[in-house]
Amino acid sequence: MKKELIACLLACLSPAASEAAERSPIRISTHETDLILTITPGGRLQQAYLGKRLANESDLASLPYYNTQGSDGSSPAKGWEVYPGSGAEDYFEPALAITHNDGNMTTVLSFVSAETKKIDDNVTETVIRLKDNVYPVEVALHYMAYGKENIIKSWSLITHREKKPVTLWRYASNMLYFENAAYFLTEFSGDWAKEVNMSLQELKFGKKVIETKLGSRAAMHAYPFFEVGLGRAPEENEGEVLMGTIGWTGNFQFTFEVDNAGNLRVISGINPYASAYELKPGEVFATPEFIFTLSDCGKGKASRDIHRWAREYQLKDGKGDRLTLLNNWEATGFNFDQPKLEGLMKEAKTLGVDMFLLDDGWFANKYPRANDRAGLGDWEANRSKLPGGVARLVQAAGEAGVRFGIWIEPEMVNPRSELFEKHPDWVIRQPDRETYYYRNQLVLDLANPKVQDHVFGVVDNLMKENPGLAYFKWDCNSPITNVYSPYLKDKQNHLYIDHVRGVYNVFRRVKESYPDLPMMLCSGGGARCDYEALKYFTEFWCSDNTDPVERLYIQWGFSQFFPTKAMSAHVTSWNRRTGIKFRTDVAMMCKLGFDISLKDMDEKELAYCRQAVANYNRLKDVILNGDFYRLVSPYETNHTAVMHVGESQSKALLYVYDINPRFGEKLLPVKLQGLDASSTYRIEEINLPEGARSRLGATGKTFTGDYLMKVGLSVFTTSQNNSRIIEITQI
Ligand code: DGJ
Repeated sequence: MKKELIACLLACLSPAASEAAERSPIRISTHETDLILTITPGGRLQQAYLGKRLANESDLASLPYYNTQGSDGSSPAKGWEVYPGSGAEDYFEPALAITHNDGNMTTVLSFVSAETKKIDDNVTETVIRLKDNVYPVEVALHYMAYGKENIIKSWSLITHREKKPVTLWRYASNMLYFENAAYFLTEFSGDWAKEVNMSLQELKFGKKVIETKLGSRAAMHAYPFFEVGLGRAPEENEGEVLMGTIGWTGNFQFTFEVDNAGNLRVISGINPYASAYELKPGEVFATPEFIFTLSDCGKGKASRDIHRWAREYQLKDGKGDRLTLLNNWEATGFNFDQPKLEGLMKEAKTLGVDMFLLDDGWFANKYPRANDRAGLGDWEANRSKLPGGVARLVQAAGEAGVRFGIWIEPEMVNPRSELFEKHPDWVIRQPDRETYYYRNQLVLDLANPKVQDHVFGVVDNLMKENPGLAYFKWDCNSPITNVYSPYLKDKQNHLYIDHVRGVYNVFRRVKESYPDLPMMLCSGGGARCDYEALKYFTEFWCSDNTDPVERLYIQWGFSQFFPTKAMSAHVTSWNRRTGIKFRTDVAMMCKLGFDISLKDMDEKELAYCRQAVANYNRLKDVILNGDFYRLVSPYETNHTAVMHVGESQSKALLYVYDINPRFGEKLLPVKLQGLDASSTYRIEEINLPEGARSRLGATGKTFTGDYLMKVGLSVFTTSQNNSRIIEITQI
């Protein structure tokens, strides 16, 4: 009764509030999910529902207000506020925090308007405007809902008209609430060469924060994505799960807070660490995009939805083809010259791949890039190694019958370089402290527009001088060290944010100038793996660790969020205890490349690789564009199996790996997924070594999709490091 009275009073007192109270709920929907926001009688925006799509529009009116305060829960303004400001009624982490010109640190946002527009038959964009009734601060919450793919992407725009700059010290992209009996978080942690390890923990009262402070990349120790099982631990094909990821190539932060009422609040955004941001009047602070999906049948479906969305909407050339390649890094390191590279180009042709990719070490003259201690920043070909320059390499690749791609790391500099000598003020480093290095290099100050021009110029000059260049591998080996921007001077608190924005300015210019140029995003392994950077890159390098056994785990981890066509995987000489077949079969499930000298292979091994490349090309559409099913987890068994199913379900590929089986271990059949139950399929083991016959009982036989998915196939063995690739064709 008391509650109703207050609500009525508020509504009567404020015309804006009464108008708001009459508004129907704001519905942000995919084909499977509803995010429903309501405006309280006091004019505040609340999350009323997030879950499976509701069948009846009329039920929206019955949705309750969420009041989580417990002790004195009288005000309807309290509760699941969509974008809570600091210092208001809620005592948990805010989405937004501002110090206003008069020193006041509270912000309370009221609803102003909402507008939903149809972008096309599949996508809608909803913009909700909020404002503080005391301070001239406005926030626009943006939501893009992708119907078929069941994805919602959201971000916020913050602006104000106070007299002087305000200080932003929290600026979330998005905040979500969940009301379940329990919450289980899968986090991804790692380090260089041991990326994306998955671990599960139950979230209890209080906060769990996942964040990084690396500056020039999102990841290394933690990754910019997470999974939350709602009610129970998330499984591959069962259970309700939230999967979320942030598109920010720098310090990010996810906060998972279980509050006094046992509800979970998930806040995603830039990490505000050392980044209190001074926003000028009229300036707009745009947060990164937070992308999420809800699945009620486990992680596998959620991953496939994200993959489809990424291919369709986010990844550079997401629907396009990908080039197979031979890279020289593992085979030569810095030690090569023109004849050696020309030899490798011929090897690329022999292998049957599309391209030869020249890695680090091709540039710099005054301080030649003979190792990683010098030359970075001086992007002209080294005259003694490559007297004909890049132009001759492009030409030689053409003569060998392959395309030519090149490695750069344009955001970085070695102190032993001409670039550093000419422009010491272009470098992030401390004026009065001893410099410390990560891989002997420093990060250029990308907040500085002149530095942005320089970095863009690295690609632009190479492309203008060598229009035949077919591919770039763009590396980024150092986090920001010696954190001080000479350009930002007394605005060091802007460094982490303005640096990343500077990086995006460059990426944007490169994409605008060279929209069809395929590019690999590389960062000493999988440290740059976020969906903002991937708007500008066709693929990313998952790890410098190319041991195929390790890669099975790494690929399993990244595949939670990224389509396999975006995950570069190369066959190398790492872990020679595994044969060339195992190494190749592991790389085949992603974007295939080689980084190995053919001289390290005997004739049979070479023949195997050639056959694998031919199979890859023949089956590329399924591998690059098919749905990915994770069937057997390497985390739970001594084996692993995954599958690609082509769009029409007429072709599928099953990849099977025995990693470390026990003697006499019980082997379970693998139940396939994604096939058409009523169709009949032929099973054929492919990628067999020359002269070998398949020992798979099912090869050459036919089965219904129903049988394959319910009974399965006996494909595992007790041999160590054994692999099988099985082609499944509808007949
Ligand atoms: C790190 C990358 O991950 C490697 O593939 C290679 O390109 C080296 N950098 C070159 O310095």
